[in-house]
Amino acid sequence: MTSSAAEFDRWYADRIESPVADELVRRVLGLPPGLQSTSLLGGAGLDEVVEALGLRAGQVLLDLACGRGGYGLEIARRSGSRVVGLDFSMVAVEHARRRAQALGLADRADFRVGELGSTGLSTASVDAVLIVDSLQFAESKPAALRECRRVLLPGGRLVVTCWEAVDAGDERLAPRLRQVDLRTQLPRAGFVNVEVADKPAWRPAEQALWQESLTFDAGDDRAMRSMQEEAHRVLATFDGLRRVLATAFAPHSAHTPPL
Ligand SMILES: C[S@@+](CC[C@H](N)C(=O)[O-])C[C@H]1O[C@@H](n2cnc3c(N)ncnc32)[C@H](O)[C@@H]1O
Repeated sequence: MTSSAAEFDRWYADRIESPVADELVRRVLGLPPGLQSTSLLGGAGLDEVVEALGLRAGQVLLDLACGRGGYGLEIARRSGSRVVGLDFSMVAVEHARRRAQALGLADRADFRVGELGSTGLSTASVDAVLIVDSLQFAESKPAALRECRRVLLPGGRLVVTCWEAVDAGDERLAPRLRQVDLRTQLPRAGFVNVEVADKPAWRPAEQALWQESLTFDAGDDRAMRSMQEEAHRVLATFDGLRRVLATAFAPHSAHTPPL
């Protein structure tokens, strides 16, 4: 799986060339038409995320590691909120900007290049932060979570979808996945009212997507070939991961742990 910005740029360039991959993801995950996802959050999960974010019209959502902006734009459309999308892949960010234009949401969307651990946004400037299936890529998970807390307004919400290792000592799994431990890391980053829910109901669609990707003749479609390589890796250790949805709040009061 890719990890540097340059590698993600190439990965997105391939993906943008492959309508087959996007169509497969949308169909198997049950996503709304036109939503461009490069993760495993399905339609039912998205509904839960929208509810957990609790956004009102005019509020600001930061979609962190937003990829092509699919989820952030859909949430802005549903809630009437504004979206700031941030990703370290310039290719993804440029695509997200074009997508916002095409959807008539450009006046409520601002896509920027930035890092999970250093967004460049002002302190206490957003109402909610969403990280869909990307926290594992942060070089330092604690630093990325502290950055989320810094940019959130007092009382603002963080919603994270991710995976955690069933056994943190399972060496079949990539270290970056074994480092995710939201029940411990969110309170340490200064968040309060932390809830980390297991989401076993999300897993069958994930498994079906990887399995179905392997039934395609990928030919010279590089996005499908990459998906198939990932499918082999993910399916070999599928039971080693738990799916989680975390919700946490930036504290209201000044009596909070220092960042
Ligand atoms: C699995 S994709 C998910 C994208 C999007 N959230 C979605 O659900 O469609 C992971 C994303 O994380 C981004 N990413 C990885 N490491 C990052 C970092 N250190 N800073 C910012 N973005 C990063 C990648 O460019 C990619 O868009």
